[in-house]
Amino acid sequence: MSLEQLLAWIPAGHPDAALARQINFDRLPAHVAVIMDGNGRWAAQRHLPRVEGHRAGIAAVRDTVETGARLGLGVLTLYAFSIENWKRPPSEISTLMMLLKRYLRSELKTLLSNNIRLRVIGRIGELAADVQDELRDAVERTAGSDGMLFNIALNYGGRAEIVDAARRAIESGIRADDLDEERFAQFLYTAGQPDPDLLVRTSGEMRVSNYLLWQIAYAEIYVTETLWPDFRRSHMLEAILAYQKRERRYGGITPARAVIGAK
Ligand code: FPP
Repeated sequence: MSLEQLLAWIPAGHPDAALARQINFDRLPAHVAVIMDGNGRWAAQRHLPRVEGHRAGIAAVRDTVETGARLGLGVLTLYAFSIENWKRPPSEISTLMMLLKRYLRSELKTLLSNNIRLRVIGRIGELAADVQDELRDAVERTAGSDGMLFNIALNYGGRAEIVDAARRAIESGIRADDLDEERFAQFLYTAGQPDPDLLVRTSGEMRVSNYLLWQIAYAEIYVTETLWPDFRRSHMLEAILAYQKRERRYGGITPARAVIGAK
């Protein structure tokens, strides 16, 4: 999409319009990956149960997805549930799954009107049957969209993904001599997608938490103190602007050839 698409969604005179105008649309990250963190702390600050933080986090998901689509990102990936998250209390897990199902149902229209295609990455076969059905339905209904690809990482782990890719590579019968980085990437959940250029993490934590370990090899990392339930369009635009100020070198020493967008 474009600056026009973004401005059409921002009320006249809103400070986000000034932020939007600073974005260089020729140098957008092709893929933005987000670690949504801080829901529990957001709830604790308000003396609320943790699940209220997750509930409030849905508004942030909505805003971020629509901002990404209107900006014209190629891919947006949100980390909704890690393999490690099974260690949480069963009541928190069931609330997260309920929120996910509710989100898929209530946001389908918005996803379609923004031409967004949904994908799910992770060990999906291990999720409850009703969650899998809901996901399959939303993925199928948005399959005809050709705008932003929205990956939800669910029951996802970066190491598990690499193991799954190795298994698939072996099963495909590929010869060891034929395996290189490019071929291997075709066995990952994100096969065919560009690697994230920008990794955003909320709530100030400086960790990658087993997220897209292969794919973030050269990603620019942006950490904001904002807790996920407070994350909105303005924060997303600020993250993109910060990214556009970075000089990307990919291990080289010639910045002139390695500026943002010259991947
Ligand atoms: C991290 O906060 C957040 C999560 C583990 C879940 C994020 C899920 C949602 C916002 C809802 C469902 C998602 C979609 C895509 C519809 P935390 O609980 O670890 O926070 P803390 O570190 O402050 O305790």
